[in-house]
Amino acid sequence: MLTAYDYPTGLACSSNPNIDITLVGDSLAQVCLGHSSTTQLTLAEMIHHARAVSRGTTHPLLVADMPFGTYHISPSSAATNAIRLIQEGRVDAVKLEGGCEIVGIVQQLTSIGIPVMAHVGLLPQRHIAMSGYKVQGRSAEAAQRVLRDALALEAAGAFSVVVEAVPKELGTFLTQRLKIPTIGIGAGPGTDGQVSFSLFFGRISSVLTKTGKVLVWDDAMGTWPGHKAKFVRRFADLQTPRDSGVAAYANAVRDGSFPLDAESYSMEKEEWETLLK
Ligand code: KIV
Ligand code: NA
Repeated sequence: MLTAYDYPTGLACSSNPNIDITLVGDSLAQVCLGHSSTTQLTLAEMIHHARAVSRGTTHPLLVADMPFGTYHISPSSAATNAIRLIQEGRVDAVKLEGGCEIVGIVQQLTSIGIPVMAHVGLLPQRHIAMSGYKVQGRSAEAAQRVLRDALALEAAGAFSVVVEAVPKELGTFLTQRLKIPTIGIGAGPGTDGQVSFSLFFGRISSVLTKTGKVLVWDDAMGTWPGHKAKFVRRFADLQTPRDSGVAAYANAVRDGSFPLDAESYSMEKEEWETLLK
């Protein structure tokens, strides 16, 4: 799984058959919209971006994060908002952060056929209450709580679970105890699983998450200038060629070498002479 926030990144995620799922993460808030945390993202902003991603998405399953505050009030308002993400945002499934306390909400969504991806471990939407972005489940007792949460979400019908920022041992332990696939971000190499979908109108017939991992686009592609978490690997450095492209354009305009004759339109000679008369 890889995140996307607009049409070009949606296209990019669909450019490789080994990406099974595209996630319109609410990391959208920081990496794409310049907010300081995911809690500032509105449902309207998420819908606008999910819809753009959907125009570029072909084969993967498309999932969107439900923004902070859009699924906490009641199961019925959560359903209303999830339906808006599906109908207006054009996504196939929604992702919700939380554990046992959101089980009733997950049940409501799955009972009416909305596929739900759960998210346990570090919950960025609660970074203030959790006193920052810290590794979760380091003690046996805290790890047991994460397992209880994940099992309750599985029982409520979640089709997979993102596991964020936990010790690698816990990533593997959760994967062994759950039937649904685990998708890790900062959860070590052990997260894994397999899920099959038969979606109507055949955009995809089956999704296999053989090796459940996820990264934020800008972290993976090297375009995020901020903090680099321990679990991030830069798979590309798009920032260097981007910045050198900006510099080359600005220099060529300033030194007059752009545009060339071959890059310009021209008038017939008689038309030009008539114009000058
Ligand atoms: O918002 C996001 O991008 C996410 C993934 C990193 C799991 O939730
Ligand atoms: Na998220």
